[in-house]
Amino acid sequence: MKKHIEISASILAADFSNLKNDIKRCEEAGVARFHIDCMDGHFVPNLTIGPVIVEACAKNTKLPLEAHLMIEHPGEYIESYAKAGADIIQVQAECYGQRPPSSRQWDQWPKGIEKIDIPALRRDLKKIRKLGKKAFVVFNPGTPLCEEILNDCDGVLIMSVNPGFAGQRFMPEALPKLSRLKEIFKGDIAIDGGINAQTAPLAVGAGANVLITASYLFSAGDLAEVTRSLKSLQK
Ligand code: DX5
Ligand code: ZN
Repeated sequence: MKKHIEISASILAADFSNLKNDIKRCEEAGVARFHIDCMDGHFVPNLTIGPVIVEACAKNTKLPLEAHLMIEHPGEYIESYAKAGADIIQVQAECYGQRPPSSRQWDQWPKGIEKIDIPALRRDLKKIRKLGKKAFVVFNPGTPLCEEILNDCDGVLIMSVNPGFAGQRFMPEALPKLSRLKEIFKGDIAIDGGINAQTAPLAVGAGANVLITASYLFSAGDLAEVTRSLKSLQK
């Protein structure tokens, strides 16, 4: 069965001095969800949003909120993000398992991992589901898909940039992972990073059904037109 294309507005490029208004503009434009990039300055070299902003978003929309946790020890924060109103919680695969000691350095970016600790990742995905929320696992461009974990996920998020900043260039290395997921995975297949008029058709063609966008959406004069054209892409 064909899945509809859904647009998830990444508020990282919104006007934080008028977030309520930007949420409303996105809703009117027809986005399906809001994507909230939570960065801790350790997993990625940038600091952004904690649960209080998720809570503020939840007060201003009934659309689902997804918290993309680009933070170390995500398991310790699942409850606070759930309590703040996140409907979907997205954890990075790279947070689970042994990493080289150098990866503790601030400028070691992106974080990579040699072998994912599957039981630890599974434990956190279960924790998310137990709280009644949807559990997604996120794979950085350099991390191969871990197919063993797919039964524990409601969705998979494929990064098409190294996480940390909006406005980066789409990495086509992400496309084969989307194609593989399309063959073997029934849940949501989301893509995040560098989505625009040129790259969205490639992502949808390869298998993505959720397009996350920050700069392309918020820099558009007409949010509704951008949303409409992305939603009309055919798989
Ligand atoms: C990157 C974030 C993305 C980012 C996308 O670390 O996870 O969600 O907001 O920004 P654009 O759409 O500008 O690439
Ligand atoms: Zn994101």
